[in-house]
Amino acid sequence: VTPPLLLRLPNEADNTEGYALLREEASVHQVMLPEGLPVWLVTRYEDVKAGLRDERLAVDPQLLSSPVHKFGGRRIPEDTLTSSGRHMLNTDGPEHRRLRALVNAEMSSGSVIRWRAGIERMVHEHLDRLEELGRHAGDQPVNLMPGFVNPLPADIIGMVIGIDPGQRPTAARLVRNLLSGGDTASPEMIDWYHELIDLIVATIERKRANPGDDLISLLVSKPEQIGVRDLLSTITALLVGGPPTTATTMAYGTIVLSRRPDLLERTLADEAEVAATVEELLRHHPPFPFATWRFTTEDVELGGVTIPKDATVLLSLAAANRDPRAYADADAVCPHRENEPTHLAFGSGVHRCVGAWLARLELTVTLPALFRRFPRLSLAVPADELVWTRVVFDRRLESLPVWLHGRPR
Ligand code: HEM
Repeated sequence: VTPPLLLRLPNEADNTEGYALLREEASVHQVMLPEGLPVWLVTRYEDVKAGLRDERLAVDPQLLSSPVHKFGGRRIPEDTLTSSGRHMLNTDGPEHRRLRALVNAEMSSGSVIRWRAGIERMVHEHLDRLEELGRHAGDQPVNLMPGFVNPLPADIIGMVIGIDPGQRPTAARLVRNLLSGGDTASPEMIDWYHELIDLIVATIERKRANPGDDLISLLVSKPEQIGVRDLLSTITALLVGGPPTTATTMAYGTIVLSRRPDLLERTLADEAEVAATVEELLRHHPPFPFATWRFTTEDVELGGVTIPKDATVLLSLAAANRDPRAYADADAVCPHRENEPTHLAFGSGVHRCVGAWLARLELTVTLPALFRRFPRLSLAVPADELVWTRVVFDRRLESLPVWLHGRPR
C-alpha cells in the first residue's frame, strides 16, 4: 500500500484544518515526506504524549540497526547541528542523563530568574532600537522579524551562555545560516560551522581566565572535569535550540495580541495573566510542530498501531495541542486551561525542553513590554498573508510587517 503523501508541511491554516482531518481519521498514519522519507506520524494528544515518554522511541540515529534512511549521518536535510557531537538532543539513556545534568539545574524556574534583570535591560534596548527604526521608516511599516523578534532572543542566549556582546551578532548570524536548510555538506556550511566552533572555543578560553555569571563559566568551574567536546556540543545545542523557537512565539504572540484587544488588555493586567497567555500561545501554535525524530528500537504499539522496529516516527505536537479529546474549544486562543492537560509545546518526559523556563521568562518579559511601548501596534498585512517557512522542525515567520503606531490615516 502506498502511504499517503504529506505534500505540505503544516502551516498555521493546516494546523487547524489539515491536522483535524488526519487526527479524526486515525491517530497514527504512515506518510511520505516530500524528501521521499517514509515516516509514522502520530497526531492524538494521548499517543503523542505516550510516544514522547517512551524510551523505546530513541532520538539517537546511531541506535538504528539498519540505517535504511539516506540520512548519511544526518537525520534530515536541514539537520546540521543535531548530528554534530553528542549532546542532549541526539542521545538517550544514561548518556543523555549525564549530558543533560550538566545544565539542567541551572535552567530550572528558580535558577533562570537570575537573568531577569539582564533580560529586561536587553528588551528595553531592543525596543529603543525598534523605535528608532520606526522613526526612519516614516509612514512605512517596520518588519518586526529583523527589527526586533529575531535579534532579541539571540542576544539573550548570548548573555546566558557568556558570549561577549560584540560577538553575539556574529554568533546569531552563523546559527541562522546553519539553520537555513541549505546542503550541510557544502563548503560554506562547513565554514560557518567551524567559525561558530572557533567562536565558542575562544569564549570558553576567555571565561576560564575571567569567569562571570554565565553558563560557560559555570560549566568550566565544575569540580568534575567536563571534556571540551561535551562543553562544545552542549553550548552549541543551547545556542541553536533556543532563539528561533522563542522568536516564533514572540512573533505569534504579537500577531494574536495585536488582533485581540480584549486578550491584550487582560494580558497586561498582571504577571499571572501574562504567564497564562504565554502558555496558551505555546499550546495554540507550538514553534516546533514536531518533536525531534524518534526511532523505534523495537516494535512499538501506539494508538492501536504496531510501528515496526527501525521506523522513523514524527510526533506532532501541533496536532496534539489542538486535540479536542484533550482541550475544549481547542482551536480558540483561550488562556487559563488549568483544568486541562499540560500542552506539549515543550515536549514531555526526559527530553522535555531544557530551556522552557528561560523561554517563558523571555516571553513574559517581552510581550507586555512591546505592547506597553507601542500600544497601537498593528499588523500591516492580513494575518493569513504572512509567510511561514516550511522547515520541518521549526516553523519561522519570513517577515512580520507592522505599524508601530497604528495604521497611518
Ligand atoms: C518557546 C521556546 C521553545 C520551545 C517551544 C521549545 C521546544 C522544545 C521541544 C518540543 C523540545 C523537546 C524535543 C523532543 O522531545 O524531541 C525541546 C528540547 C530542547 N530545547 Fe527547547 N524550546 C524552546 C526554547 C528553548 C531555549 C530557549 C533553549 C536554550 C536555552 C532550548 C534548548 C533545548 C534543548 C537543549 C533541548 C533538548 C533537551 C533534551 O533532549 O534533553 N529550547 N525544546
